[in-house]
Amino acid sequence: MSTLKIRPRRLRRSENIRAMVRETSLSVKDFVYPIFVVPGENIKEEIPSMPGCYHLSVDKAVETAKEIASLGIPSVEVFGLPEYKDEIGSSAWDMASPVQRAIAAIKKAEPDLVIVGDVCLCQYTNHGHCGRLCDHEVDNDGTLPLLQNVAVSQAQAGADIIAPSDMMDGRVAAIRDALDSKGLTNVSIMSYAVKYASGYYGPFRDAADSAPQFGDRRGYQMDPANVREAMKEVSLDIAEGADIIMVKPALAYLDVVRLVRDNIVQPVAVYNVSGEYAMVKAAAQNGWIDEKRIVLETLTSMKRAGADIIITYHAIDAAKWLKG
Ligand code: PBG
Ligand code: ZN
Repeated sequence: MSTLKIRPRRLRRSENIRAMVRETSLSVKDFVYPIFVVPGENIKEEIPSMPGCYHLSVDKAVETAKEIASLGIPSVEVFGLPEYKDEIGSSAWDMASPVQRAIAAIKKAEPDLVIVGDVCLCQYTNHGHCGRLCDHEVDNDGTLPLLQNVAVSQAQAGADIIAPSDMMDGRVAAIRDALDSKGLTNVSIMSYAVKYASGYYGPFRDAADSAPQFGDRRGYQMDPANVREAMKEVSLDIAEGADIIMVKPALAYLDVVRLVRDNIVQPVAVYNVSGEYAMVKAAAQNGWIDEKRIVLETLTSMKRAGADIIITYHAIDAAKWLKG
């Protein structure tokens, strides 16, 4: 007779029993798919450091949006490369810029798709920093009115959610004020509240041509060593009116995701960033890992850590895999 009374393996014996006791489920409804819109027409060019992701002209962005919607992915986040750059990033709020045109065109083609507009200036400034400069330093308060312009222009183009990623202090309140004063009270704010100064953004900066021309972003993005500070950022953004709170990057910060999830009632989003994506793609292309298995395991870990929303370049592949 066995002396073992408790045998955890009993509940792992078949796929159906594992399904019955599974604690975390991953769904296509968790995903937001980021796209990069560029000037021009009929352009779909693969981004070298992000295989499977493309620079898309507005017409091709609409095609991609239709594919996203047909797969059941609820949302798209729009990034853009502008036609011109200047000191203050004024193309970021030009209604004729690729982002604003793409938002409007996608809204028209797929009215139910939730459109997230990324609000930042680094793709639009000639120095590549996320705000306007004053003596070679990013000027926090001088940047807020510019972010207000960007947010309002994207919302007027048709964005449902405004997602500020610049890490200026006070920008959520400033953006909320600006939206409300234009009657855009139904537009939500998803704040990149906890955004670390991370090496994992490398491929994105190539894709978005947004690398700083001098210095780095440590003066405004968070120190990767800090976690209490994450709650400080989250509390401020909630007080300023953020509807959704984001932690970014995802994989190296799952402890932060869990902490935030346990301490607030708002939905928590994570950004599974470009460097995380590129590492998986590179290893998969070398035949060193099983891509499908690794991607689904990784996305599940983000859900398990407490994320409600996952912004991921894997969304299209994962949606297909989840369909089985
Ligand atoms: C712009 C921005 C960045 C990302 C999203 N918005 C880069 C940065 O802060 O340098 C990163 C996304 C990714 O790496 O996938 N502020
Ligand atoms: Zn930026």
